[in-house]
Parts: sequence; structure tokens; C-alpha cells
Amino acid sequence: MRAGFLGAGHIARALAEGWRRDAPQASSGIILSVYDPVPERARSFAAQFDAQACASPAALANLSELVVLAMRPTDVPAALAAVGPVLEGRALLSLAAAVPLDELRAGLPDGACVARLMPNVAAAVGRGVFLLAAGTLTAAQLDSVRDLFGLAGTVVEIPEGLFDPATAVAGCGPGFTALFIEALAEAGVEAGLDEALARELAVAGVAGSAALVARDGDPVAIRTSVATPGGMTAEGVEVLENRGLRAALAAAVAAAVERARRGR
Ligand SMILES: NC(=O)c1ccc[n+]([C@@H]2O[C@H](COP(=O)([O-])OP(=O)(O)OC[C@H]3O[C@@H](n4cnc5c(N)ncnc54)[C@H](OP(=O)(O)O)[C@@H]3O)[C@@H](O)[C@H]2O)c1
Repeated sequence: MRAGFLGAGHIARALAEGWRRDAPQASSGIILSVYDPVPERARSFAAQFDAQACASPAALANLSELVVLAMRPTDVPAALAAVGPVLEGRALLSLAAAVPLDELRAGLPDGACVARLMPNVAAAVGRGVFLLAAGTLTAAQLDSVRDLFGLAGTVVEIPEGLFDPATAVAGCGPGFTALFIEALAEAGVEAGLDEALARELAVAGVAGSAALVARDGDPVAIRTSVATPGGMTAEGVEVLENRGLRAALAAAVAAAVERARRGR
């Protein structure tokens, strides 16, 4: 698959890192190119991820079966204007939050093949979650997108109408979870651990717990099985419930959804 990134920022890097994490280009079959308004940024991306740096969006489109919009939402209209006329049946995939398919289609020539995908940064370690709204891609293009992103995580296809709440859970998830880990480690330090040990234990605890829930599928069963009545975990869980952990998370997801709905 020949994929070209318009934009060499954080998310393009996370994706390239995920695809390149254990296979050099020749054996992975993923041929990357990149364009960025700051040529040095494109060159450094190209050097790090064995990609071709392009001098223009048109040059990138020429090299790509899949053109990926990886710029901030406010920069999307300019990118559509630059790349639209040279797409010629190539697939366009927008990673931009809060830019709906209707708006992408309106900025492109009639009949353009366009879809939305919401990644998260865990792609860098091959554990990304990718929300996909199929848009107007052909069946073959969709298969290629599923295969490509499946190499760096899990692809979940959803109607575009669910993008905002799904993004608030999956796309913002690394930020929320990192805050939880940070706070758990700080609490460990308060309780007497040194900082490095507290961080190591918090990270390992969250990673192991997530793997367990992923295997068994039921967080409630796991929580109740470890919270022996009268034991340490039960005491702590009761404090979390009484101090409003659930309410805080519900408010965080609602705030993220509201932010998406306000648009750019
Ligand atoms: N970061 C995440 O975790 C994440 C997760 C999900 C989705 N996303 C989405 O991914 C997109 C990129 O986010 P990011 O965090 O990677 O942003 P970023 O780090 O700011 O990178 C965006 C890059 O795109 C460049 N750019 C601007 N206009 C361009 C154009 N017309 N053509 C090509 N490149 C252009 C920017 O250059 P200048 O700085 O010079 O303008 C910058 O180098 C956003 O739309 C965001 O909603 C991000």
C-alpha cells in the first residue's frame, strides 16, 4: 500500500512509528510519502520512517494510493483545495476531528473517494484504536484501509453520527488514562513510594488490568472479584465511588463531545 501523509505532525508520526515498529519498508509492503509546509519537518519524518519527502501535495498524490489528511482541522480547507484537483480516484482519508464527511465532500470534486478515520496515539506501539466512517470509498479501498490500519491496532467501523462520542472515549482515552496513571503514581508517592517505583507500578497495574478486562470482557466481574468485602481494594473503590470518579469521567466525555460539536 502506498500511503501519503499531508502533515508530518504528532499523529502522522505515531502512525508511521506503529507501521515501522518491527518491519523495515521492504518487508512491510507499506510505502510512505509525506508533505509538510515546513520542508525540514517532512525531511526529518522521511529520514526517521523511510518515507519519501514530497515538494507539494500534488507530488505526494502522484505517489499515493491513499492520501491521508493529517493537519489541524482549521487547515483542512486549504489542503482540500490543494489536493482535490489531483486526487483522480485515489482514496482520501481525513484524520481531522470535527470535520464531517459532508464538509470534506463539499471541498472536493464530485465523485471523490473520501472517508474519515479517528486514530489515537497508541498506534505508535501497535495498540491504536481507529474509528472508521466509510464515506465514499470503494469496497477495495476500504479493504486496503482496514488492512493498513489493522497493522497498528484495531479498526472499528461506526456510523459517522457516533464519531463524537466514540472519539471522546477512544481518541481522548490515552489522555484520560495517562491522567489516571499520573494521579495513581502521585498517590503512591504520597503513601511513601519513590517516584520511579510508583510510576512503574501504576503503569503495570493499568496495562495488566486492561489486558484482563479485554480477555474476560466484563469490568464489573473483575472489579468485584478483586474487591473482597472488608479488604483493601474494596475500601479504596468505595472512596473512588463516593468521591465521584464516575461522575468526573462522565463530565469529561460530555465536555469532549460538546467541544467536537462546537466545531473548529
Ligand atoms: N494528535 C492526536 O493524538 C490526534 C488524534 C486523533 C486525531 N488527530 C487529528 O489529526 C490531525 C493532526 O493532528 P496533530 O496532533 O498531528 O497536529 P500537528 O502536530 O499540529 O501536525 C499537523 C501538521 O500539519 C501541517 N500542515 C498544516 N497545513 C497543512 C497542509 N495544507 N498540508 C500539509 N500539512 C499541513 C502543520 O504544519 P504547520 O504547523 O506549519 O501549520 C503540522 O506540521 C488533527 O486534525 C487532529 O484532529 C490527532
